[in-house]
Amino acid sequence: MKGQWNDHDHEIAEAWKRNYRTAPAQLEKMKRAGSLISAFNANIDAVVKISGKKIGDLIKKNRFDESRLVMAGERNIRNNEDLIRGLINCFRSGIAEEWLIGEEDVFHWLKKELVYDKLQMGGQGGIVANVMAVCGVNPVYVHCASLPAEQAGLFLNRSNLLTVDDKGELKKAALVDRKEDIPLVHWIIEFDKGDVVNIAGQTITCPKSNRFIATYDPLNFRLHIDKGFDKAILSEKVKVEQIILSGYQMLQETLADGSSGKGRIDESIRIINRWLSTNPVRIVHLEMASTQDRQIRRHLLDTLGKSVDSLGFNERELIDLMEVLGEQELAGKCSKETNGVNLFEAMLKLLSYTGVSRLQLHMYGLYLTIQKRGFRISPEKNRDGMQLASVIAAAKAGTGAIDNEDVLLWAKNDYVSGTGITELRNLSGYIKTNYSENDLLVSGIWSGPEFEVIAVPTILIDKPVTLVGMGDTISSVSLVAAL
Ligand code: GLC
Repeated sequence: MKGQWNDHDHEIAEAWKRNYRTAPAQLEKMKRAGSLISAFNANIDAVVKISGKKIGDLIKKNRFDESRLVMAGERNIRNNEDLIRGLINCFRSGIAEEWLIGEEDVFHWLKKELVYDKLQMGGQGGIVANVMAVCGVNPVYVHCASLPAEQAGLFLNRSNLLTVDDKGELKKAALVDRKEDIPLVHWIIEFDKGDVVNIAGQTITCPKSNRFIATYDPLNFRLHIDKGFDKAILSEKVKVEQIILSGYQMLQETLADGSSGKGRIDESIRIINRWLSTNPVRIVHLEMASTQDRQIRRHLLDTLGKSVDSLGFNERELIDLMEVLGEQELAGKCSKETNGVNLFEAMLKLLSYTGVSRLQLHMYGLYLTIQKRGFRISPEKNRDGMQLASVIAAAKAGTGAIDNEDVLLWAKNDYVSGTGITELRNLSGYIKTNYSENDLLVSGIWSGPEFEVIAVPTILIDKPVTLVGMGDTISSVSLVAAL
């Protein structure tokens, strides 16, 4: 139980426990959700826990200029020093960011300096595919830019999780071995709350456990799309009903070979449109992810972002979107006070800018969906989906892996967090002041004349074993369990 409960919160928490009772039935329903594509990015995550002391040792050993390590600057990595600067930036604020490594040498340096604790499935596309498959969605087609045995071995060994081999044949993803392909490894560097690093005469204490991702991934950097996969999806025997998209966040305006990153977005849209023309797709969702390049972020939002049915993001990604929409003041307000009320305002801006039917935010303690009134997924169904997502995310955080169905409902009897209840109470108050009376605090639903709000306080785990891929899990389960 995170955050303090006052007496009144007990009643609210009990009400939410009753709301959450639908989770097992909702999970059962996912088996009937119909086939799904998860595209485009799957990679290998090399996870390592770093201590403040180890960071200090790396700085000394490499004789980095300490004052530069604490300076603000571009959020990407051109040299070894930038990598530590990014790490300290996340450590200091307890935030999660992903920075791209532009130079292969930096990647090799990192491999030399850090020994990973474990390898696990990475990339939104890969993580979503595994989660959907373990929840019983049947079948799940996962796109892989690269699929050597090391990568394939991270897919769950399930007959409802398929991709193509090097001949373009659909096979169980876990058993494919595209021998010519190279492994794509991302470094997930995790740090702990309360840990300390001494640098440039300052003592920096980490306020929240989180992670910094340093990515070197030549194929996904250019959103490489496998021809065999494209062809398989167009074949007659494949009938897809849902598409979850991701993997655009690694693009940059100018790619390493001088070609255009925006051009890659446009090319992917042509491919997706072909898939849509031959498949009975009911819903397309885009997971925004942390897209550092502003030109790419803007173009993605203006093209794909406006044409999908549903968009998912966390608080940082939403703030980044406000920045490219020219909403600097609102972005500043949300950064300074990152709470449900401020983010709600940002979501309304995004709703009117994109015209997308459904927007979903996942933040610490609260999931918030805003959709156009009358959208075909009812508010109740959305709420049920979001509650199941909260239960499954808690299982992932608490046990470290959701590799088999037995663990999915591990947290189903837990209470929602005090943090979530507080956020929800404030949001309910805001809606009362600005719109109308509501019972959002206990029902999680408010229907206005133009849009509907669905807000769910979540279960939080005290000592999470893992946090990577949480957003992908939440967005995909919330959506597919709601259908
Ligand atoms: C990004 C990272 C990947 C990680 C994922 C988690 O895609 O590149 O390594 O697994 O985010 O959401």
